[in-house]
Amino acid sequence: MLGLAKSPFTPSFGTTPPVLAGRDELIAQFAEGLDDGPGAAARATLYAGARGTGKTVLLNAAEEQARSRGWLVISETATPGFIERLASDHLPRVLASVDPEAVKRRLTSIQAPLNLGGVGWATDEQHRPRPSLRSQIELLTDLLAENETGLLITLDEIHHHQKSELREFGAIVQHAFREARELAFVAAALPAAVNDLLNDSVLTFLRRADHHHLERVEEDAVREALRKPILNAGRSLTPPALETMVAATQGYPFLIQLVGDQVWRKATNEGEIDLPSAHAGVYAARRRLGQLVHAPALAEAQTSTSRSCWQCPPTTAPRRCATSKHASEWTRTTRASTGCVCSRWSLSHRLAAAVSTSRCPTYATTCASTPPRSA
Ligand SMILES: Nc1ncnc2c1ncn2[C@@H]1O[C@H](COP(=O)(O)OP(=O)(O)OP(=O)(O)O)[C@@H](O)[C@H]1O
Ligand SMILES: [Mg+2]
Repeated sequence: MLGLAKSPFTPSFGTTPPVLAGRDELIAQFAEGLDDGPGAAARATLYAGARGTGKTVLLNAAEEQARSRGWLVISETATPGFIERLASDHLPRVLASVDPEAVKRRLTSIQAPLNLGGVGWATDEQHRPRPSLRSQIELLTDLLAENETGLLITLDEIHHHQKSELREFGAIVQHAFREARELAFVAAALPAAVNDLLNDSVLTFLRRADHHHLERVEEDAVREALRKPILNAGRSLTPPALETMVAATQGYPFLIQLVGDQVWRKATNEGEIDLPSAHAGVYAARRRLGQLVHAPALAEAQTSTSRSCWQCPPTTAPRRCATSKHASEWTRTTRASTGCVCSRWSLSHRLAAAVSTSRCPTYATTCASTPPRSA
């Protein structure tokens, strides 16, 4: 039965969607940076955006661009210890895969960093001091340059909690850039984390990065991202059903997948997806969004609010909501559901920061909780 076919949508975090809507320009900019060579601005790129705006899938797309040019890719998340993981896991593995003989020859001729006592790297295997991250990156980029390729390192979820490691990493990247090495670096972060990090005077390498804030996706692109996967998976949909789905996403990338998936599931008995199925799917998607995005954000905000209500910033409303009506509704519902007694809007402020984009697209699904007439 057609209705039981697998949904073509990807309503989970970090999973590349069937159609990556509205990000062609960003991907092209990064690809140009790879082609333009050392010194290109896009060789250090930073994507910022609220939860579910597609940061991780953009990192995936950047990696794809690099791989298609023969570059090697190391993909990490900036949780504590990422420097150690790069130095003792990723780099050795990638180096070994490049050309073990060449690596061995080069390692023999290079001296270990000063803090390791200048011992040659070709000493007994068991007692061999581990080369530093910087030395390994230099070695790898030297080897790759011989084949006219390079190394891309992507770092997801960078956060000020990892400032000291980011400083260390930034110094290595900056050094490699200065030496015109074939190295590119792409990072992703929530907007609040980016603000914290860019204000740190030592993290200059991040301030110099090509910085993009992920905006909501344009309507036409959303339409294609919903329509194409459905048609490719062997079903059709009526124009009103499609328009209902497009409007429900508000251009929020995660909702494109969630709405597509839920509508697909609600229309189990039909080859063609019609308006009632679309309404039912949209309603279900909104409920799922509450569980997947709002509930964790609320829990996060609740914890921080109960800890530090007394020092809340005096804001009058969530700054990033689309209209003042939306903002006050947002505040009312979130404060009611958490029991926050702070008189200075701190919870809504924090929530808006936690799940915001420039126009707070998730607002609609928080406040618009009335079931659709035809569901
Ligand atoms: N441009 C897009 N077009 C269609 N779907 C998208 C797009 N960007 C992301 N998605 C979908 O949205 C969901 C969330 O994407 P992703 O995990 O990359 O978000 P994120 O910004 O990294 O979220 P988080 O901050 O929670 O890590 C995934 O299901 C992904 O397939
Ligand atoms: Mg992510």
